[in-house]
Amino acid sequence: MAGRNSNSDVRNDFDREDIASVYESIQPEWPHEVRHALAESLDQNPSPGDGHRFLLDVGCGGGKLTKVLENDFDHVLGIDISESMLKMAEKNVTNPKVKFQLVYDDKLPVESSSTVAVTCGISFHYLNTPVFLAECDRILVEGGILAFFVFGPNVISSLQGTPIANYSAESLRWQHIYREFQINCGMDEVVRETHLTRYEAIYNALTNPTKHWRQIAKRDVKYTIKKMLDYMSSIAGYRTKTYLDPTKDPLNVFRESLIAIFRDAGLECNDDTEFKVTFEYSAMVIKKTKHFGIA
Ligand SMILES: C[S@@+](CC[C@H](N)C(=O)[O-])C[C@H]1O[C@@H](n2cnc3c(N)ncnc32)[C@H](O)[C@@H]1O
Repeated sequence: MAGRNSNSDVRNDFDREDIASVYESIQPEWPHEVRHALAESLDQNPSPGDGHRFLLDVGCGGGKLTKVLENDFDHVLGIDISESMLKMAEKNVTNPKVKFQLVYDDKLPVESSSTVAVTCGISFHYLNTPVFLAECDRILVEGGILAFFVFGPNVISSLQGTPIANYSAESLRWQHIYREFQINCGMDEVVRETHLTRYEAIYNALTNPTKHWRQIAKRDVKYTIKKMLDYMSSIAGYRTKTYLDPTKDPLNVFRESLIAIFRDAGLECNDDTEFKVTFEYSAMVIKKTKHFGIA
């Protein structure tokens, strides 16, 4: 299985307060379908007694996913490696049954056989997969589930109000320039992969026979070119990594390529020009069986 960022790199990324706050203010909320996806998977499983439904949200960041799920469990713990992100989580989620905790590695600070569900909201790719899966195996109750959720602005769906087909030249160019931005930021392959191929490599490497992966929601979001540049700058890799070409700011390259998509479609544009992007949300779920297993 492909490599991963070291924990200290990730802490550097998300621990900078400027990155944590930009990330939190710009990244979209999780849609309610996340709850349904989790509830459906749990319904098929033996439920522990009332008052014992415990959820662990790993890489909880500012608590966006934790907040969507908080009412479906009796106790919730969100853990993260970044103190800045956790400070935000504590502000955003005030429900007394939800606690947050700082962690330093991929060991899970939870008792064995105590957990109904473990969730990761675009954080699974940061973890050491074998260590993390062994830990999930240890803490989950029989039939408990591990769900990892991921999303990305995968498709450009309209330019100045003109609808754009899914596999049109414009949409493919959008995917290309999004990926090019990540490459120009020097983001390593595993982190980069999360947005466009939606965890494909990670998912394929899981040998757990119960695994299933499905798209759970799509949301069209309206952006101006300027707002999209703000979104791109909230991707932690933009602020912290060494650019592939230090003389070229990846955000400027992205801006020029985006403007070229409009111009080639015969549309005049400036930083206030509007377009729509479709965020696609997927869930990958595995159930505790004899072992979680990876290739
Ligand atoms: C892309 S953010 C997602 C935050 C949140 N789950 C959400 O959906 O908004 C990834 C989070 O994973 C955290 N993280 C990275 N490595 C971690 C580790 N080894 N253990 C716990 N959290 C980690 C980062 O600090 C960051 O807050």
